[in-house]
Amino acid sequence: MTSFTINGRAVSVDVDDDTPLLWVIRDEIGLTGSKFGCGIGLCGACTVHVGGRATRSCVTPVSAVDGAQVTTIEGLDPADEHPVQQAWRALQVPQCGYCQSGQIMQAAALLKDFPSPTDEDIDAVMTGNLCRCMTYVRIRAAVKQAAQALANGAIPNLTAAKGAKA
Ligand code: FES
Ligand code: FES
Repeated sequence: MTSFTINGRAVSVDVDDDTPLLWVIRDEIGLTGSKFGCGIGLCGACTVHVGGRATRSCVTPVSAVDGAQVTTIEGLDPADEHPVQQAWRALQVPQCGYCQSGQIMQAAALLKDFPSPTDEDIDAVMTGNLCRCMTYVRIRAAVKQAAQALANGAIPNLTAAKGAKA
């Protein structure tokens, strides 16, 4: 049995210790915003936050998050109004959308480390999040717009719980 908090909600799951966290999030808990892309830690589609850090959930055994706080795209903001999400919508970043929850979670973590990111900072942190639709130019612009919003006083609500959504 592994117990942790996801999007502010305490959960316990009875699965093998080496079950990937992504499997648990999607199949056991029913939060399907985090996507399966490669399954080997190379594309970023499955990115969630564990203890506030961007984490590839496809290569993280669930036992590694015992007692931890996990946040998925569904819990980033209770109203989907995190500054990163606002910037993503304003600049119409997504194309097919498949990679975008991972991109947003990675970007939200990036801004904690780089409040005023340069192009190089963004490229260095986001390089592991692949987008087959090549939305990279808009991603970079949106990260900068979100950084500006945060600098202007926008306060992300990172801890509120929210239920599952498709
Ligand atoms: S699905 Fe996890 S990094 Fe690709
Ligand atoms: S928007 Fe299609 S893979 Fe990124």
